[in-house]
Amino acid sequence: MAEERTFVAVKPDGVERGLVGDIIGRFEKRGLKLVGLKMMQVTPALAQEHYGEHKGKPFFDGLIKFITSGPIVAMVWEGKNATGLARNVIGATNPKDAAPGTIRGDFAVDLGRNAVHGSDSPTSAEREIGIFFKKDELIEGWDRTIHKWIAE
Ligand code: RTP
Ligand code: MG
Repeated sequence: MAEERTFVAVKPDGVERGLVGDIIGRFEKRGLKLVGLKMMQVTPALAQEHYGEHKGKPFFDGLIKFITSGPIVAMVWEGKNATGLARNVIGATNPKDAAPGTIRGDFAVDLGRNAVHGSDSPTSAEREIGIFFKKDELIEGWDRTIHKWIAE
């Protein structure tokens, strides 16, 4: 049975700053499995759909402008408790509160430039994977021989 999947994206600030490799490496080393990856330019329509839960909030317009301001790297990671695990790897939303060792705690300083996105629940993950990836862009049925050394 396929394990939980979650959606992660390196935001435009992370791409501009050359952090793509470091960020991907954090998830790889943690033990998650990469099953989807693409660099893309987010359109305003896609941004508004993705961040729909924040519509009407004071930071919404700035958030849409920022996420569409340059390319992102969109990813799908699979593994046991993938969503919660990825959020822990990413760290607190505001980098000033993010623990050292997390992506935001090591690479970011500002709430509006926090380098990376991660789905906040398995339900959000399913929705976000569906709006960023077509089915045939995701790898299915790929068993890694190291899996037994990562999870029981
Ligand atoms: P993300 O969705 O980007 O992974 O971040 P998150 O779940 O940790 O935070 P969320 O509440 O979903 O907010 C989405 C992004 O909006 C910006 N934000 N600005 N000015 C503000 O009060 C404010 N609050 C949130 C952040 O860039 C956050 O990542
Ligand atoms: Mg969020």
